[in-house]
Amino acid sequence: MKAVVYRGPNQVSVEEVEDPKIEHPADAIIRLTSSGICGSDLHMYEGRTVEKPGKVLGHEPLGVIEEVGDAVTSFKKGDRVVVTFNIACGHCLNCIRGFTSACLTVNPESAGGAFGYAKMGPYRGAQAEFLRVPFADLNCTKLPGSPGDKWEDDFIMLSDVFPTGFFATQLAMVMPGFPVAVFGAGPVGLLSAYSAILQGAAQVFVVDYIPERLKLAKSIGAIPVDFTLSDPVAMIEALRSQHSRVDTVLPGEEKLQGIMSSIENLAKSIGANLELARSDPVTMIQMLRAGNPAIVQSLIPGEEKMKGVMSGIDAVGYQARDRQDPSRENPTQVISDLVRLINPTGHLGVIGVYVADDPGAYNERAKKGEYILPFGQLWEKGISVGTGQTPVKKLQPMLRDMIIAGVAKPSFIVSHKISIEEAPDAYREFAKRSEGFTKVTIQFEK
Ligand SMILES: NC(=O)c1ccc[n+]([C@@H]2O[C@H](COP(=O)([O-])OP(=O)(O)OC[C@H]3O[C@@H](n4cnc5c(N)ncnc54)[C@H](O)[C@@H]3O)[C@@H](O)[C@H]2O)c1
Ligand SMILES: [Zn+2]
Ligand SMILES: [Zn+2]
Repeated sequence: MKAVVYRGPNQVSVEEVEDPKIEHPADAIIRLTSSGICGSDLHMYEGRTVEKPGKVLGHEPLGVIEEVGDAVTSFKKGDRVVVTFNIACGHCLNCIRGFTSACLTVNPESAGGAFGYAKMGPYRGAQAEFLRVPFADLNCTKLPGSPGDKWEDDFIMLSDVFPTGFFATQLAMVMPGFPVAVFGAGPVGLLSAYSAILQGAAQVFVVDYIPERLKLAKSIGAIPVDFTLSDPVAMIEALRSQHSRVDTVLPGEEKLQGIMSSIENLAKSIGANLELARSDPVTMIQMLRAGNPAIVQSLIPGEEKMKGVMSGIDAVGYQARDRQDPSRENPTQVISDLVRLINPTGHLGVIGVYVADDPGAYNERAKKGEYILPFGQLWEKGISVGTGQTPVKKLQPMLRDMIIAGVAKPSFIVSHKISIEEAPDAYREFAKRSEGFTKVTIQFEK
C-alpha cells in the first residue's frame, strides 16, 4: 500500500510499504477514505520531536472496516468508522477511568499511545491506504452514511481536532456566559472557539496573525484579534471594558468608530442587524441604547475589574511565535499572555503541545521542555491549569450526534483536499502556514 513516511526534518515521501495484517485477535484493519494532516504532525515534520526517519505518519483516520480479528465483536467488514488518534486498551486503570489518552498498557515508553507519533508507541500512522487498529472495539466508533457523503469532512474531524477543541474548553472550564480567549486559530483553536460558542460562551476572542484563519474565526461568530496590530491582551481588555463604557461614548461618532468590534458582538447579543447598523448611525445608536443598559446598569460591585476573560485556551503550544518578531519562536509567549489576560479565579487550558524532548530548541533548558513562566502571577490570581492529550473516545459519540443533528459542522476549517501523492507538497505549504492552508485532508479513491 501507499503511505506517507517521515524521512527526516522537513522531508516526507510517499512510499510503497507492506500492507498491515491482523496481529492480535482484537485488531481490525481499516481501509481509509479520509486521513487528516495535523498541526501535531508538523512538530515531527520540522524535526522538533525525537522521531527517527522511517515512521508512517498520521493519526486522523476515517474509513471502512476491511477485516476484523476473532475477538472483535462490535464491527464487521463494511462498517463505516472513525478511529481515535489515541490508541488505548480499554481495561487498564486509566482507561476504565475514561482517560484513554493515558492508557497504561499500549506504550512501553509512557502513559498513552497514538498512531504514527513520536514517543507514542510503535504504531504505524494513518496517512496510508490501510491501518491496523489495535483494540478495535474501543478505538473505532461506528458512523452512519457511506464514504464520500455529506458528512465525510465533518466525521474526519472526530478523530482528533473536534474532540480536541472541545476538550480544550473543558480544560479551561468554559461555562455558559463566560468571556473566552483562544490563542491560535489553527484547526484546534478554531474548533475550541466553535465548541465554546456551542456551549453558550458570551464572547469568544480568537488571537492569531494569519488573515485567512482570523476570517474563519469571524465566520463562526468569534471576535478576531490580530496580534501583530497591537498587544492582544490590552486589546481584549479594552474590548471587554467598552461594554461598561459605551454610554459615555455615545455622542461622539469618531469614538464609536473605535469600538466597532465590540459593537459587533453587542449587535449580536440584542439581535440587531450589524450591516444595517454600520451604514446607519441612527440604527447603531439605537442599538447601543437598547443593548447598553442591560450590561452597564447591572454591573455587580467590582465587576469592572474582571475585564479579562474567565477561560483562556492555549491552542498554539511550544512552537509559539514571538509577538514582536513573528519570524522567531517564543515558547512562553502564549502562556504569559494568557496569565495576564485571565481574570482572578479563571481557568487556563493548555491544549497546544509542549514536549520534554525538543532537539530543535534554542537552549539546553528548552531542549528539555523547561521554561520560565509567570507562576507567581498565576498563583496570586488563583488560576487553575489543565493540560494534556485529549481522551477522544469519551467525547466522540456526543460530538458525532451534534454533527448528525446538524448542530455542529466542524468541516468549516477544511481548506484543502488532496490525493496521497500530493502529501509532500501539502506538508511543505502547511508548515509555512501558506495562505489559505488551514486544514488538509487526504482523500482516497473509493
Ligand atoms: N492536546 C492534544 O491532545 C492535541 C491534539 C491535537 C493537536 N494538539 C496541538 O494543538 C496545537 C494547535 O494545533 P493546530 O493543528 O491548530 O496547529 P497549527 O500550527 O495549524 O495552529 C497554530 C496557530 O497558532 C498561531 N500562533 C503562533 N504563535 C502565536 C501566538 N504567539 N499567539 C497567537 N497565535 C499564535 C499560528 O499562526 C497558527 O495559526 C499544536 O501544538 C498541536 O500539536 C494537541
Ligand atoms: Zn491531529
Ligand atoms: Zn488502557
